[in-house]
Amino acid sequence: MMDEMDFENRIVASGYTPEDNDIEISLRPQHIDDYIGQEKVKENLRIYIEAAKTRCEPLDHVLLYGPPGLGKTTLAGIIANEMGVNFRVTSGPAIEKPGDLAALLTNLNEGDVLFVDEIHRLSRAVEEVLYPAMEDNALDIIIGKGPSARSIRLDLKRFTLIGATTRAGQLSAPLRDRFGVIFRLELYTPEELAGIVKRSAGILNIGIDEDGALEIASRSRGTPRIANRLLKRARDFAQVLGKGTIDLESAQLALNRMEIDELGLDNIDRLLLSSIIKFYKGGPVGLETIAAAIGEEAVTIEDVYEPYLMQIGFLSRTPRGRMVTPAGYAHLGIPTEGQQTLF
Ligand code: ADE
Repeated sequence: MMDEMDFENRIVASGYTPEDNDIEISLRPQHIDDYIGQEKVKENLRIYIEAAKTRCEPLDHVLLYGPPGLGKTTLAGIIANEMGVNFRVTSGPAIEKPGDLAALLTNLNEGDVLFVDEIHRLSRAVEEVLYPAMEDNALDIIIGKGPSARSIRLDLKRFTLIGATTRAGQLSAPLRDRFGVIFRLELYTPEELAGIVKRSAGILNIGIDEDGALEIASRSRGTPRIANRLLKRARDFAQVLGKGTIDLESAQLALNRMEIDELGLDNIDRLLLSSIIKFYKGGPVGLETIAAAIGEEAVTIEDVYEPYLMQIGFLSRTPRGRMVTPAGYAHLGIPTEGQQTLF
């Protein structure tokens, strides 16, 4: 019964899905001037890039953190492009053994960018290899076992590590301390997202007007990955049922058909809130209990659903558990307990 509501199938999920791959790559800006939003980050980044280039040095190691779908990989690719170096991409879970990382590092050219997504998921043993690489451009290799084991040091080319994570708090302190530049990416404003949607529509060759772009933008939870995904679906509706271009009417039709409401909430968000109200009187209720009630994993609820619901003030975390706020009740059109006894 929950199939249709699976996280994987959820159109407003900010997590990566295989279908995003081709679309994200073609829509991805290549230059910092084409990257919309994150103004403070861009401002400083431009300085760091120019300074490093002037000194003919690689850029210092960079940590990008923030919720999924905000363009961390895109920004890392832009950094490599602006520095004029190769961009090598991997992720924490993909680097299983210290030898995997050693192979990646020894294959880098001078100044290259190594991008490690989900860097908080690196194993301890792999992290140990990364420390001397980041600090001294060196690889310590252990030869032999037991008392006769020796370590030899191999020099690496100078490189830039760009780490990305949704959970900066889960990064070990020694790793975090080795990044010279730390940027936190913020959710985008509807206006910024509308800019991204219009740019993407141009690349996808679909007409869109200002109102259509703003409608998609304002239901995208501050996240470009969601905005681009909704744009693709709105294009389908506009081409099959509409006039072939996306205006307010066809955007609303598409979003309503996908059951995404004016704030970008979908079925699962609403199920989450209404279950807490219906079964637990609005809370407080423990995360595991909610997870069992709606058939989702607790970590998925915590990482994917809750941040936006908390950001818009519909859900709060208290020491005794999760609670739906009066604003959450109002959005679902359910009177709060107080209102019920009043009338
Ligand atoms: N695509 C994804 N993120 C973007 C951004 N910040 N600017 C332009 N296009 C994007």
